[in-house]
Amino acid sequence: MPATQFAADRLLLFGATGDLSRRKLLPSLCALDADGLLSDELRIIGTARSDLDDAGFRNMAREAMEEFLPADRRGSMAGFLNRLSYQTLDASTLDGFDALAAKVEDAGEKGADGGIAIFLSTAPSLFGPTIKGLEKAGLTGDKVRMCLEKPLGSDLDSSAEINDAVASAFPEERIFRIDHYLGKETVQNLLALRFANILFEPIWNSNVIEHVQITVAETVGLEGRVGFYNDAGALRDMVQNHMLQLLALVAMEPPTSFDATAVRDEKVKVLRALRQTSASETVTGQYRAGASDGKAVPGYDEELGEASDTETFVAIKAHVDNWRWKGVPFYLRTGKRMPERVTEILVQFRCVPHSIFEGTGAGLHPNRLLIGIQPEEDITLSLMAKVPGLDEDGVRLREVPLAITMPDAFAEAQRRIAYERLLLDLIKGDQTLFVRRDEVEAQWQWIDHIRAEWEKQGKKPQTYMAGTWGPSGAVALTERDGVSWHE
Ligand code: BG6
Repeated sequence: MPATQFAADRLLLFGATGDLSRRKLLPSLCALDADGLLSDELRIIGTARSDLDDAGFRNMAREAMEEFLPADRRGSMAGFLNRLSYQTLDASTLDGFDALAAKVEDAGEKGADGGIAIFLSTAPSLFGPTIKGLEKAGLTGDKVRMCLEKPLGSDLDSSAEINDAVASAFPEERIFRIDHYLGKETVQNLLALRFANILFEPIWNSNVIEHVQITVAETVGLEGRVGFYNDAGALRDMVQNHMLQLLALVAMEPPTSFDATAVRDEKVKVLRALRQTSASETVTGQYRAGASDGKAVPGYDEELGEASDTETFVAIKAHVDNWRWKGVPFYLRTGKRMPERVTEILVQFRCVPHSIFEGTGAGLHPNRLLIGIQPEEDITLSLMAKVPGLDEDGVRLREVPLAITMPDAFAEAQRRIAYERLLLDLIKGDQTLFVRRDEVEAQWQWIDHIRAEWEKQGKKPQTYMAGTWGPSGAVALTERDGVSWHE
């Protein structure tokens, strides 16, 4: 077994009392435990600045599970809570790391020789100091791997700084960068759809595909993340990572196998082939007061308490400059306070080259493949069919869906939180669903160019009413190509 493929028997969570830990990490681990998917030896050591002891941390964890994990997935919880321990630490100074190392050592089964997985879900400003502290305390050895949660910087330079700091103590084979979209079942299913079926690959190119749309719409607004979001904006918060990963999975060449190197090699080629986008191929927006989920909601500026130029919506016409995708636009859009929560990919095929129904009033529409990622997990291929009848006034055609609803097709399968899969892969040491450094850097390069263009042009977000599909410019972006957004 290569040295990097050890199973971890201790998971060290930095930021253990934070939002991500309470909402996702602890509930995911508890659900895995309830399903018997964690080894008996696994111990989870939480650390954060809060002054807690083991019992206090276990209480906090229990409350988090009660709030964020459905009762039928919790199991008895007692066994899971017994795995937990806690060490208070101010990661900005080196002082507490020896005590932390002693706690981690203690947590391991006597005589066991497993490894340690470290999950950093703290402010990125703490990444550097944390790595130094871990090094000093001997927690960066061959059997330690490091997992990093976003945001990994705010541009190429700052992300390189973080990556350099981590690389000074861990080789790339032991660095696991999270993009939680890769943990979503339906996102992984894109690979199955494309590469486990012979039907799609021969038509998956510019000869047959006219354009692709990727939408990630949310109904939520700022959600109290004032400082972070106002510095980031939709482009860096959603496009740089999740949307570019979705684009890469749609556009990549077939990898030779489903393994970390093969899959990531192909994704990075796509990310590097993204054409630099001009400001005129992007639209930005910021929501104003309106309605969301049937309730009146304030505008972004009101939530923030001041005027701001941060975009809460962005639409982009992107191009992948390679043979396969020559001339095929990829329209991306994402926004907060949209009318519904939906993540989907639409593949729009071209018209048939010659219609035998011309002049019959048949109404021929080009085929479309709609891949629903969330909340609906379904795949719908729109096909043309003849409307039954004697056709005395000519043949009539209508679009009919060939639809698979994933939860129905796999009714027996457990639906899981994306982090369940990612945490399990982290513990096992499988990097396939984690983002490699060259991917992150190609993503930032593309995003930095867009931001530089915005700056050059003095581009400010247009306003849109909460509960709508973004500013009018987003409609114009596609309409000028004769394309409508799928709604
Ligand atoms: C996060 C963003 O990465 O993804 C959030 O920081 C966003 O702003 C979230 O709300 C969306 O994730 P999901 O899984 O709810 O689609």
